[in-house]
Amino acid sequence: MSANRQASPRRVSVAPMMDWTDRHCRSLHRFISQHTWLYTEMVTTGALLHGDVPRHLAFTPAEAPVALQLGGSEPADLARAAKLGEQWGYDEINLNCGCPSERVQRGAFGACLMKEPQLVADCVKAMRDVVTVPVTVKHRIGVDTIEDYAFVRDFVGTIADAGCEVFIVHARNAILKGLSPKENREIPPLKYDYAYQLKRDFPHLEIIINGGIKTLDEVEQHLQHVDGVMLGREAYHNPYVLADVDARFYGATDAPLTREEVEAKLIEYCASEIARGQFLGAITRHALGLYRGVAGARGWRRVLSDSRELAKADLAIFDAARQHLRVPDEIFE
Ligand SMILES: Cc1cc2nc3c(=O)[nH]c(=O)nc-3n(C[C@H](O)[C@H](O)[C@H](O)COP(=O)(O)O)c2cc1C
Repeated sequence: MSANRQASPRRVSVAPMMDWTDRHCRSLHRFISQHTWLYTEMVTTGALLHGDVPRHLAFTPAEAPVALQLGGSEPADLARAAKLGEQWGYDEINLNCGCPSERVQRGAFGACLMKEPQLVADCVKAMRDVVTVPVTVKHRIGVDTIEDYAFVRDFVGTIADAGCEVFIVHARNAILKGLSPKENREIPPLKYDYAYQLKRDFPHLEIIINGGIKTLDEVEQHLQHVDGVMLGREAYHNPYVLADVDARFYGATDAPLTREEVEAKLIEYCASEIARGQFLGAITRHALGLYRGVAGARGWRRVLSDSRELAKADLAIFDAARQHLRVPDEIFE
């Protein structure tokens, strides 16, 4: 569709997911796809400004491009946090306006910010004033009982006026009272048309669609209407779904790594992380879905979930896991 789409480096991205998209998870995704745009977990301004900055921001250059997602609602704090993110090498700063959790609501940020578009605009402006990387917003299409398209249209319009050019639209409402965050990702209906309409109403903006998307064929369909597609849970539970992304959406000509080649890279990565004192299970937990759909995947997963065995930090655990799979062994010899 638009020339814009050709230019978007976010044609395919993996969603920010708390407790999931840490640097180990991102490294795994990067072994599978060189071009998919990756996001951190949400980091709150409080955690960054009063906490352990390296713990929250350190990542390996091989993970790039990576966007840092911030949670907060205080323009000055967000500006300081965004500056830190840029200094640590992130390629984008994203503001979370979509999380409905009670904890986040108590902090008056996340999805409840959708009711305060002018405040979000001030936050975006404060961040844009101090960084040169793009400042983007991830949001829902409405909150609670607000079903009207005009609500999200006006939200996007107000924030675009503050200079934001990229909007990631999780295409369902956030219900602030009565639904858990998990239910909030399942119960409110998906309305992809709202995201498509945003692209029609704001053709100069980059609109990324998110929510319930599972296959690259679906990605291709959505790209007829918007500039990019963000995959969340599917990319986590079935990371190898990203294998054809580079060829299909970024014009890459190299064949993707096979699952076995990805595993070999993962083992090397585990060795270097163990040498730095990391717990092996902190890495393998993100890789349990690597062989999803392959015969024996369940056995592979079970072996790599055994915390007592993982505590031994012995990479032979991968050999034991592989016994369950029906894939050739030569590649590891
Ligand atoms: C475990 C988990 C943690 C999440 N954490 C965040 C987060 O930190 N920030 C955010 O904007 N969205 C978060 N989300 C929402 C996802 O980014 C995404 O919008 C949502 O899962 C819908 O996409 P999907 O249907 O492809 O999974 C989280 C989702 C999951 C499953």
